[in-house]
Amino acid sequence: MKRGANIQRIVQEWEKIKVSVIGAGNVGASTAQRLAELDIADVVMLDIVKGLPQGKALDISQAAPMLGYDVDIIGSNDYADIAGSDIVVVTAGLARKPGMDRNDLLGPNIKIIRDVCSNIMRYSPEAIIMIVTNPLDIMTYAAIRYTQLGKGRVFGMSGLLDSSRFASFIAKEINCSVRDISAMVLGVHGDHMVPLPEYTTVSGIPLGDLLEKDTIDRMISRTVNAGAEIVGHLKTGSAFYAPSAAIVKMVEAILKDSKIIVPASVQLNGEYGLEDLCLGVPVKLGKGGAEEIIELELTEEQMKALHRSADAVRMGISGI
Ligand code: APR
Repeated sequence: MKRGANIQRIVQEWEKIKVSVIGAGNVGASTAQRLAELDIADVVMLDIVKGLPQGKALDISQAAPMLGYDVDIIGSNDYADIAGSDIVVVTAGLARKPGMDRNDLLGPNIKIIRDVCSNIMRYSPEAIIMIVTNPLDIMTYAAIRYTQLGKGRVFGMSGLLDSSRFASFIAKEINCSVRDISAMVLGVHGDHMVPLPEYTTVSGIPLGDLLEKDTIDRMISRTVNAGAEIVGHLKTGSAFYAPSAAIVKMVEAILKDSKIIVPASVQLNGEYGLEDLCLGVPVKLGKGGAEEIIELELTEEQMKALHRSADAVRMGISGI
């Protein structure tokens, strides 16, 4: 092949990579910024509020000459602009305020998810869909139902965020680099999440070899309440810096087909003895989305905790 033709092919393929972010609020805009800085795909940010995504997209674009990213960032109120997206990240919906549980968002957010899903199916039916709107596991289940998309094409971002929160507390406690920590949190993105210290290591060393059980329990409890701790400080909204970092790590893994294993909320069909619900479990991320569910050997106690987590999700699902 002539060199010029090859370059043209690369340029054509490059131009095709597109990630759309629905919702231009705290999580959506922060995601768009991180995606732009990754310099890997064009970004469309969409919101129902007129001017909000356009203004934020312009602002992010105007940082490009300083930071050196060469992708297009477009703000829009028109779903036609998400056409041809490789991935659509859904952050549209209400966020928590102090005193609220994630499940308190169910009523208003389910209507938004239904509307967003019908628009994705209309304008970008080939996309992989990552749900971020809370209550996460229920919204992911609803999105699978509304889109009728196959296994792994629709999943929720939650466990990677919870694991990162757990890892950050461990690093502070041990006074070591966060880079050494590999943490694992499964289950519902809520009060019944299941941090797994037995599957958490520090530079390969099991966590239990380095910390007392009481200390680990204290960090588990802080991890479970990490979202609420931030809401308590912010008062007007919920976390977005770490959530957007988790989203972008997962988007990057899909676009690069890198097959990282991270926890995410997926529909279970018998895995872990559970079915007909979405719950956070380890998955392999690649160009097909959540391509494979990894089944860990859980102890009886861990399995019970995961099933309690599932019960919490089932209660929510029964309300949709
Ligand atoms: N279509 C598109 N955008 C919508 C729609 C809709 N139907 N409904 C609401 N939005 C937009 C709002 O206009 C707002 O700009 O979603 C955005 C939400 O932004 P924030 O209120 O800042 O909320 P954020 O912190 O980004 O959280 C969004 O992610 O982590 C979860 O719990 C969080 O459910 C919440 C979601």
